[in-house]
Amino acid sequence: MTLDLTVADAAPKTAKKTQSDAQTVTSVTHWTDKLFSFRVTRPASLRFRSGEFVMIGLPDDNGKPILRAYSIASPNWDDELEFYSIKVQDGPLTSRLQHIQPGDQIILRPKPVGTLVLDALLPGKRLWFLATGTGIAPFASLMRDPETYERYEQVVMMHTCRTADELAYGRELVGDLKNDPLLGELYGKDFASRLLYYPTTTREQSAQMGRITDNLNSGRIFQDLGLPPISPETDRAMICGSLAFNVDVKAVLEEFGLREGANSEPREFVVEKAFVGEGV
Ligand SMILES: Cc1cc2nc3c(=O)[nH]c(=O)nc-3n(C[C@H](O)[C@H](O)[C@H](O)COP(=O)(O)OP(=O)(O)OC[C@H]3O[C@@H](n4cnc5c(N)ncnc54)[C@H](O)[C@@H]3O)c2cc1C
Ligand SMILES: NC(=O)c1ccc[n+]([C@@H]2O[C@H](COP(=O)([O-])OP(=O)(O)OC[C@H]3O[C@@H](n4cnc5c(N)ncnc54)[C@H](OP(=O)(O)O)[C@@H]3O)[C@@H](O)[C@H]2O)c1
Repeated sequence: MTLDLTVADAAPKTAKKTQSDAQTVTSVTHWTDKLFSFRVTRPASLRFRSGEFVMIGLPDDNGKPILRAYSIASPNWDDELEFYSIKVQDGPLTSRLQHIQPGDQIILRPKPVGTLVLDALLPGKRLWFLATGTGIAPFASLMRDPETYERYEQVVMMHTCRTADELAYGRELVGDLKNDPLLGELYGKDFASRLLYYPTTTREQSAQMGRITDNLNSGRIFQDLGLPPISPETDRAMICGSLAFNVDVKAVLEEFGLREGANSEPREFVVEKAFVGEGV
């Protein structure tokens, strides 16, 4: 599929600008019947901070763009852009997007934004990434960015899904990272102990179970990983999941004494929605 964006994206844009919004798919991986990841070419001019999101999409039957927010899952040094996506069967975008193949084109608006960036947090010792479902996407970017490890001694990735197969993308990514030549070169064998991974399921029996909120409240995560409880002196956090998840985790972190920050006012934690769904 090659996009004729000069038609699809009609006035007031110029042909030159609309051409730059078409990117070519280079690979696609289907993880489950509801989850897939894909890589596209990166516009030469696109600069972003790991953790930010952009608008991507496809044209509808009339050529009008269907655009949705997507976290860039690749780090900012990567030559290509990676995305990790849900497949919503009747979703306007993902009912189509799930069928893309290498060589196809997608629309990408090169205007990255977002709160899940290192600059929105105060310096600290340990950085917690707290995600459910596709909410791991911005952390897939940040976990692969050496700057994360320059700023924090230790990173803890907590990822929770309903079933074990939904953890596969994150599990493979963390496994690859622990063997990454660049990070190995920078941090030596020590790197494995700097990135702690705590995947759990909630609706299927697995090695580790339970909601992130429950594992934080009960102290189980600290016991399992041999860490002290979260404290505002040492710990920073980023949250990305459904609205209900974000609200509940925010309350837990506030109980530990952490305060929500933003790009304009860095503090101890930041939050972003992984999707706009039903309310709490
Ligand atoms: C800041 C931000 C970043 C996002 N980043 C990503 C990302 O990296 N990957 C991604 O897959 N989606 C992401 N989304 C969601 C994305 O924008 C779309 O909602 C999603 O692609 C579905 O599009 P759609 O048109 O098929 O269905 P929509 O009409 O957009 O959604 C239909 C319904 O599907 C459910 N839903 C939508 N997205 C998800 C999801 N990701 N996980 C679980 N349920 C969902 C919700 O209940 C929603 O009401 C992000 C959303 C926001 C606000
Ligand atoms: N009917 C189905 O089988 C089915 C399957 C997949 C998705 N969906 C729908 O698709 C949408 C997204 O599904 P999803 O699985 O990506 O996201 P989700 O429903 O938000 O669940 C993802 C994970 O987050 C946990 N979670 C949810 N709310 C939480 C909270 N407030 N605090 C802590 N943890 C929380 C869930 O635990 P729990 O399991 O304990 O809730 C689950 O492990 C939802 O609207 C969902 O209803 C339905």
